[in-house]
Amino acid sequence: MSTTTTDAIAKIYPEAADFMPLLGTDYVELYVSNAKQAAHFYQTAMGFQALAYAGLETGLRDRESYVVEQGKIRLVLTSPLCSGTAIGRHIDQHGDGVKVVALWVDDATYAYNTAMERGAQSYLKPVVEEDQHGSVVRSGICTYGETVHIFVERKAYQGVFLPGFRAWQTNYNPPAVGLQYVDHMVGNVALGGMNKWVDFYAQVMGFTQIVSFDDKDISTEYTALMSKVMSNGNGRIKFPINEPAPGKRKSQVEEYLDFYEGEGIQHVAVATDHIIETVMALQARGIEFLKVPTTYYDTLLERVGPIDEDLTPLRELGILVDRDDEGYLLQIFTKPVQPRPTMFFEIIQRKGARSFGKGNFKALFEAIEREQELRGTL
Ligand code: FE2
Repeated sequence: MSTTTTDAIAKIYPEAADFMPLLGTDYVELYVSNAKQAAHFYQTAMGFQALAYAGLETGLRDRESYVVEQGKIRLVLTSPLCSGTAIGRHIDQHGDGVKVVALWVDDATYAYNTAMERGAQSYLKPVVEEDQHGSVVRSGICTYGETVHIFVERKAYQGVFLPGFRAWQTNYNPPAVGLQYVDHMVGNVALGGMNKWVDFYAQVMGFTQIVSFDDKDISTEYTALMSKVMSNGNGRIKFPINEPAPGKRKSQVEEYLDFYEGEGIQHVAVATDHIIETVMALQARGIEFLKVPTTYYDTLLERVGPIDEDLTPLRELGILVDRDDEGYLLQIFTKPVQPRPTMFFEIIQRKGARSFGKGNFKALFEAIEREQELRGTL
């Protein structure tokens, strides 16, 4: 990246003047066994809007992708159209899950070259893709498991998503539920892997560690895990990284690693400005959430102090609250959204707090363990 470009970015985003300026999450791509039906689920149950499509009709022969959006969140749902593809092999091993966490950058060639010089493993060399709406440069590096980061440079592009995609028009357009942006994405890595990937994000991407939890913070009677949260310079990209800690029974991280057959994205946290309305709509549309015992609410206000929301809808919906030095947050977690007990979503509303709900971990993990018990995997 030229000095002029760096200076220009520093003017627009003064906090992003680090060596790997990331402007935000560009898209999240999931490899799924039936992209057409998955897209319907994300529209119907989660309020995403139809955005773009690529497949046989656009000249692809081996895969099909549907792109849905809500607020600034874009999900790409991709399935193979024939046997023997890398996508099909990925799905065979991992089930449905996140393959790509794409990061919006000003210069995808610079981002790639910098990451490679700093020790990244290549996934995609910089490639320029064009259509009548302009051009996009993409490049990619590997992260934990088979997950990858793709850098997307789209400043010379006016099309609906990426070259090769066309607008996806459908007569079925259920309303959005108020999801705004990706707040953070959590990775589950193998025992001993957490510090390795913390170092990777620090060394290769210039991230800093903002939080650390050890097994004393995150343990129940049966299981434990450890977690460190990495953030980029401007705080728009936050990646907590979990690893299992020894416990009496199998931890939720081990259950994930067993069923995903490797390391990968455990949950995608999406932010809303109106969590009660959002969660009410999601529940009405069939999304299943983890529930903590209602006794959680008996002492809630003693724990977190005064909050703007009425307690009744929080209790009815199962929304959790936690406070830190800067404010408080409201959060709730879905059950896994595919057959394997792997990826799930978090819905989060921040009211000043920049933390991750440490005060809720115990109640939450006990709720997960009740689910594990039902699955016979505890
Ligand atoms: Fe989270």
